Amino acid sequence: MSDMHRITMTVNGTDRIVDVPANRALLDALRDECGLPGTKECCAVGECGACTVTMDGRTVNSCLVLAVEADGADVRTVEALAADGELSPLQQAFLDHGAVQCGFCIPGMLMSAEALLTENPDPSEEEIREGLSGNLCRCAGYARMFAAVRAVADGTVTARRRDSVPILATNWEGAIADAATHGPKETGR
Ligand code: FES
Ligand code: FES
Repeated sequence: MSDMHRITMTVNGTDRIVDVPANRALLDALRDECGLPGTKECCAVGECGACTVTMDGRTVNSCLVLAVEADGADVRTVEALAADGELSPLQQAFLDHGAVQCGFCIPGMLMSAEALLTENPDPSEEEIREGLSGNLCRCAGYARMFAAVRAVADGTVTARRRDSVPILATNWEGAIADAATHGPKETGR
């Protein structure tokens, strides 16, 4: 146990104390020690952005950050976006625009998009593309994602409760079934 390190970080507003080896990635500490599987591992070498979270307000590839480097940090993951059963405007916009295909890139996309809109609430098309340029989508659904971000910036999206969106009921059922093995896509679990 001597090679274990005790770290304290705030994750989605909750203080977490975890014991990790020095070489444990923040991504793994979030998924395993903190029980937050929304953040996804894809390339594990900093290329795809699937593992994007924010650390002290800045987006990072959590596969490249050591958990011990997050000691004392304020970390936000995709699980922070939906509150009390209500999707965030970004999550709703991704649904409304059909921007979610396999869903694997979506948690990272959402975190990058949220960081972009926090820093720049009215980004240009070019700024949206630049803001999401670190996130790769193997389903190539970029145009719909950019449109979703634009809709949030334009204020044309309203967050709704999951159970108040009957037109998406079939999608939700599929998402719920998928969640049994992979976790819901838009919330990233
Ligand atoms: S899994 Fe971290 S950048 Fe791809
Ligand atoms: S929706 Fe499939 S990787 Fe982006």
